[in-house]
Amino acid sequence: MTDSSEKPFLRVLDGEALSPPPVWLMRQAGRYLPEYREIRAKFPTFLDFCYAPKAASEATLQPIRRFGFDAAILFSDILVVPDALGQKVSFEVNEGPRLEPILSEKEFGRLNEAIDLKRLAPVFETIERVRAALPATTALIGFCGAPWTVASYMIAGRGTPDQAPARLFAYREPELFQRLIDRLIEASVDYLARQIESGVEAVQIFDSWAGVLPAGEYERWCLAPIKQIVAGVRRRHKDAQVIGFPKGIGPRLDDFAAQTGIDALGLDSAVDPLWAAQNIPNAKALQGNLDPLALLAGGAALEAGAARILKAFRGRPHIFNLGHGVAQPTPLAHVEALMRLVRGHGAS
Ligand code: CP3
Repeated sequence: MTDSSEKPFLRVLDGEALSPPPVWLMRQAGRYLPEYREIRAKFPTFLDFCYAPKAASEATLQPIRRFGFDAAILFSDILVVPDALGQKVSFEVNEGPRLEPILSEKEFGRLNEAIDLKRLAPVFETIERVRAALPATTALIGFCGAPWTVASYMIAGRGTPDQAPARLFAYREPELFQRLIDRLIEASVDYLARQIESGVEAVQIFDSWAGVLPAGEYERWCLAPIKQIVAGVRRRHKDAQVIGFPKGIGPRLDDFAAQTGIDALGLDSAVDPLWAAQNIPNAKALQGNLDPLALLAGGAALEAGAARILKAFRGRPHIFNLGHGVAQPTPLAHVEALMRLVRGHGAS
């Protein structure tokens, strides 16, 4: 996609092991940053903010300016896809997302046949603005939610502790659920391809709820759709770099890495870095996996957690990250301390 030689993040996706490893954090733009809270306050709703290219590009760049991460991630949300499929989506302050739930064929029938990329034009403009403003050594990551995770919000209409509504729906109405997943596969391919055309240099697929699925359901609703998205994106952009983040799938990670065709595997915090280093072939870069709560706690917990990860992945392609998003009350000083720990590592 781009000449990767200047960008450590892209060099690692290409299979190089760097010491110190490149670093970025999931949810690195967000409410723990005072400058983020300042822009956020100017918008009545979160979606208005996501669809305002000037503000969204600023939010994307804020954590780069403050901490000097090796990659920026597009500021947006996975739920812009249901929005662009015609479902009503909103975000209630301190309560999370609300969608008009899909309960039957009737609500499914109201969705657009294909994703409305015109509605997402502000997102593509955000990407162009960020690419023009980023330092030469910083990469830009785009993303989408995986079909299972996005569908679970579309069915429940909100966040739930275990995605029980979508799991039940998939058992009771497997054919209708398959049609929803297929719609999301096509939408995700169109969306990611356009993000790449607008300037992102890698894409991450977030399957934040993969871990609640039993084996058979995991294969059908997590593995197969992501495999199809990777193939679909590569048909349009053969060198596309794809990171998969199937949160919570534990020992299925090696199978996931082998089957889906992803370039890099995002690890959640429950994965033992030594297990991953031994069981995932070197050809796949690994990304992760400090516990966001160790970063929130700081001190000895942060130092021990970071040291264990740096040691386990030394000598293999690794991108330092958290195992999930930055927790809201995380002190800025802890992120600065983490950057010193990572950047001070190795230099060999
Ligand atoms: O990582 C980044 O900095 C880029 C932006 C990004 C956001 N959401 C911004 C956001 C990304 C990559 C996401 C992904 C996302 N969104 C996921 C997958 C990753 C994960 O965290 O598991 C999911 C499940 C969502 C859905 C979502 N969006 C929820 C459940 C919520 C509310 C809960 C919360 O943490 O506030 C959101 C809102 C949201 N998305 C915010 C941000 C910064 C907070 C909104 C605000 O500032 O009011």
